[in-house]
Amino acid sequence: MATRVLMVCLGNICRSPLAEGILQSKVDIESVSVDSAGTGGYHIGSKPDSRSIAVGLKYNIDITHQRCRKFNTQDFKDFDLIYVMDYSNYENVTALAQNEEEIAKVKLILDEVDAGLNEVPDPYYDDNGFEHVFHLIDEACTIIANKLNAY
Ligand code: 4NP
Repeated sequence: MATRVLMVCLGNICRSPLAEGILQSKVDIESVSVDSAGTGGYHIGSKPDSRSIAVGLKYNIDITHQRCRKFNTQDFKDFDLIYVMDYSNYENVTALAQNEEEIAKVKLILDEVDAGLNEVPDPYYDDNGFEHVFHLIDEACTIIANKLNAY
């Protein structure tokens, strides 16, 4: 069965849609499925932020079809790996877990990268942050994809 990966941020319109699109572009579609969600419910049903769409398209990642949804407790059952973008996402997601097994599924995405930063910064209020965010997520997804494709 395919490994199911969920990317999570706060709004599910800036960072996690890019993470979904980028990881999906690097993995074998038969062996890995990718989705994304947000811990906040402000933008449910919306397309990704136009700035995320633009930076994605610049690198040939099309995320325009994605629609925002909120993270929920069923996601612990439906996914094998849950990658969060920052510590507050980690707190928000693990607060909903019912056991240690569910908590163990949750990881900071930049923990996959041997770099100084632990968090993908929230670019919502920073028009110039999207390029940086793209590259941070891209680097992590290359490593994640190499691991998942090797299964
Ligand atoms: P994201 O960015 O968590 O990367 O999707 C945000 C998007 C929207 C808001 C906050 C962060 N907001 O407060 O509406």
